[in-house]
Amino acid sequence: MSDTSHDRLLIIDFGSQVTQLIARRLRELNVYCEIHPFQSVTDAFLTEFAPKAVIFSGGPASVVNADAPRPPARVFDLGVPILGICYGQQVMMDMLGGRVEGGKISGGGGTAEFGRAYVEPTVDHIALLDGWFGGDDDREQVWMSHGDHVAALAPGFEVYGTSPNAPFAITANTVRNFYAVQFHPEVHHTPKGAKLYENFVKLAGFSGDWTMGAYREKMIAAIRAQVGDKKVICALSGGVDSSVAAILIHEAIGENLTCVFVDHGLLRKNEAAEVVGMFRDNYNLKLIHADESDLFLGELDGQSDPETKRKIIGRLFIDVFQKYADQVEGAEFLAQGTLYPDVIESVSFSGGPSVTIKSHHNVGGLPEKMGLKLVEPLRELFKDEVRALGRELGLPASFIGRHPFPGPGLAIRCPGEITRPKLEILREADAVYIDQIRKHGLYDEIWQAFCAILPVRTVGVMGDGRTYDYACALRAVTSVDGMTADYYPFTHEFLAETATRIINEVPGINRVTYDITSKPPGTIEWE
Ligand code: XMP
Repeated sequence: MSDTSHDRLLIIDFGSQVTQLIARRLRELNVYCEIHPFQSVTDAFLTEFAPKAVIFSGGPASVVNADAPRPPARVFDLGVPILGICYGQQVMMDMLGGRVEGGKISGGGGTAEFGRAYVEPTVDHIALLDGWFGGDDDREQVWMSHGDHVAALAPGFEVYGTSPNAPFAITANTVRNFYAVQFHPEVHHTPKGAKLYENFVKLAGFSGDWTMGAYREKMIAAIRAQVGDKKVICALSGGVDSSVAAILIHEAIGENLTCVFVDHGLLRKNEAAEVVGMFRDNYNLKLIHADESDLFLGELDGQSDPETKRKIIGRLFIDVFQKYADQVEGAEFLAQGTLYPDVIESVSFSGGPSVTIKSHHNVGGLPEKMGLKLVEPLRELFKDEVRALGRELGLPASFIGRHPFPGPGLAIRCPGEITRPKLEILREADAVYIDQIRKHGLYDEIWQAFCAILPVRTVGVMGDGRTYDYACALRAVTSVDGMTADYYPFTHEFLAETATRIINEVPGINRVTYDITSKPPGTIEWE
């Protein structure tokens, strides 16, 4: 379902850790782009994709090796602007007749460079560098991360910026509109990097017409074309992705969409009522509230192993969803809130299996089991674009900005055995904690915050009496994508006030701790 109605930019991925950031920078400029791994970019693919411009990403390989990844030579004959980043610069020079020297990575003696560097202009100016240079000392900070380096330019190229360790930091063949830089303009540490991308898409002639309003219209038409008058079912979790997908599909097909909200009894305080109320009252959406808490909590009874809990919940979720979906006569499609980062094929050079830390539960297993066709209207979007689409669709800001909530819910915030009384205590403590965060205006600064109830009771004293109640742990992290995270630096005043409120307002808790573990080595959730 990729977009063919807009000018398209192709990013050829050579395995850089930050390729997705290139796409982010471009989407911020309202330019439609797709990332494709170098292996899948063939001559035929180039013809079909018909890019208006191409970017070569960085990557960990070394072009001095014969088996180094390369784009098809035809890319240089398309007559469209090309920008090479780091490895992308090296592969461009190598293929067009320049020379690259191996550095530490490939065992050569050249200079490797990792980190901050400063690029100075050479005499000439090019449109790619509009708005660059010309500061106090006429040099610009960039982020370098390369082992190899270009030693001789390909014919037709000139140097437009140099750094002490990268004499060919910014190079271009302005006749052919080929540009190649040694540093990474997409990362935060290249402060004017976004400007460089802006200049590149401008000189390539993009009009920046890829807006959320246009996307909404396009997807509504696409959903109607795909589904026709058939029925669609959707597992609605109340999270941003499934909510936006459901509302968009509802706009497209109305009554023919049925959503199932599986209530596993592991939701937060008032969550089921809020989600169901919002969708039924504001959107008039057909919604089944599947209250199956007895089933889930029954099967979880006596289980304390984190992976066992996840597996039980994942299995029951599929069974329950299937049961309710069967009641929707003639359903042929399943809607999913799959996002672009889940779709991009990642380029692996090592090929080794990675260790499973947690078997994340989501609805991924549903389609095969149910034999349904998929409707995935968010497949082209990044997370914050989904939020923008949600705003476009009129979802309340409080919904769009919600912290992520894991599929297994409170089960993984209740280490050890799960009991109904413990879940009740946890819900109350969590509600007070989140209320505190909101009252102090911190909710949007924090990526995710929650409370965990610990499988330990401790002695306390309240009034003149002894207490013997549960301890809880507060968690709040900052993160970009949940892959790494740091604890949020609350003030002592905030922590003290929150601890006092929880102990006073939540029977069953007499001790509050704050978890200051980063990820890694910790994980965000406790299980
Ligand atoms: P961890 O604990 O792995 O969490 O650092 C990273 C992010 O993923 C969420 N998470 C889950 N989401 N099913 C989900 O849908 C799961 O089993 C699961 N486990 C963790 C977690 O809330 C955080 O946002």
